[in-house]
Amino acid sequence: MATTAVLGRPASVLLKFTGTSSPAVLSAASVTTVQHRKQHNAVISKGKGGRSSSSGIAATVFGATGFLGRYVVNRLGRMGSQVIIPHRCDQYDIMYFRPMGDLGQIIFMEWDARNKDSIKRALEHSNVVINLVGREWETSNYRFEDVFVSIPQQIAKAAREAGVTKLVHMSHLNADIRSPSKYLRNKAVGEIAVRDEFPEAIIMKPSEMFGREDRFFNHFANMRWFGKAIPLIGLGKKTVKQPIHVVDVAKAIISAVKDPDANGKTFALVGPNRYLLHDLVEYIYAVAHRPFVPYPLPRPLYHLVAKFFAMNPFEPWTTSDKVDRFHTTDMKYPGLPGLEDLGITPSSVEQKAIEVLRRHRRFRYLETELDETKPAKTVNY
Ligand SMILES: NC(=O)c1ccc[n+]([C@@H]2O[C@H](COP(=O)([O-])OP(=O)(O)OC[C@H]3O[C@@H](n4cnc5c(N)ncnc54)[C@H](OP(=O)(O)O)[C@@H]3O)[C@@H](O)[C@H]2O)c1
Repeated sequence: MATTAVLGRPASVLLKFTGTSSPAVLSAASVTTVQHRKQHNAVISKGKGGRSSSSGIAATVFGATGFLGRYVVNRLGRMGSQVIIPHRCDQYDIMYFRPMGDLGQIIFMEWDARNKDSIKRALEHSNVVINLVGREWETSNYRFEDVFVSIPQQIAKAAREAGVTKLVHMSHLNADIRSPSKYLRNKAVGEIAVRDEFPEAIIMKPSEMFGREDRFFNHFANMRWFGKAIPLIGLGKKTVKQPIHVVDVAKAIISAVKDPDANGKTFALVGPNRYLLHDLVEYIYAVAHRPFVPYPLPRPLYHLVAKFFAMNPFEPWTTSDKVDRFHTTDMKYPGLPGLEDLGITPSSVEQKAIEVLRRHRRFRYLETELDETKPAKTVNY
């Protein structure tokens, strides 16, 4: 009988383990991936789906406390998964995760990226591991090599050794060893390191993400604080961007976790339209009902200004690396699967930008309809 194979235990033991003898539970359990590890009963699927059922997924989400993390945890929690959130901040700062899952299904655990045992502990009872760890700037403690290469490598190694069946690793669309941005160069090395450790890993390469808490649309919209004019290298007319909505990336991660054929693949995740950076920033200002006055700033001068901001020991407003990353044209990967292959229809900037930009409007424009704003011009190169 198939059920006898689940978790490598006989059915009688399984019944004791799940605490129920319902035949529905038995048949749901039979589809669970065969694992030979000591695992929690959260990996046995049961119920109709939704919060109070069990999806059969026990996922450890490294980097959950960042921008993308909350969307991923929310989607995992709402389908009845157990989510382990390794964190290094005060537990009370991440209480917003609590209502995202059923009682006891969102589990916090302290971790230290340099402590291999803490990585092992965080994923030892999970069948899915998602690595969202990232940082836009280097600190004296963690360089880009640590954040994008060593830490993902350690996570991949620990996941392989623990017998985890799914590892999702976040890279970047423009990850390239020849990129002027150190962030993107290290992302490229990180992809190779993760593949070497865990060949079946699913690698996600999203373009720049936008959403309420982003550091992309909000960054450009906030530039108005530093004088009315917006600096762009080459007036932003030499850079093409294809931004993606953060929710689409979260949906892609969940679809890949559920799709047994996704293992070992690399996905290029992009929005539906390509824009010149100039036109995109113009649209951001149009939606925010603010005047858009761009001026060209040569790269060396931009770097000089960025170096001044990078001295901020907390969150720097910008860095030379960020300037280079934002002025890198988004690559095209016709050979790689994308959102459509995961069954997701991407949302356009015009549909979602208002969610991010309404708060940048003056009070009198707060409720103004979006229809009055001319959509940004798209390009196809
Ligand atoms: N945002 C984008 O537009 C974009 C585009 C393409 C790819 N990506 C990639 O997608 C992933 C998620 O992006 P995101 O925007 O959600 O990132 P984020 O907001 O910067 O969050 C990064 C997460 O990584 C954790 N982290 C960073 N350094 C760490 C360290 N040394 N030790 C332990 N934890 C550490 C942070 O924890 P703390 O909260 O404790 O700092 C946070 O939870 C990243 O890998 C990023 O590079 C992002």
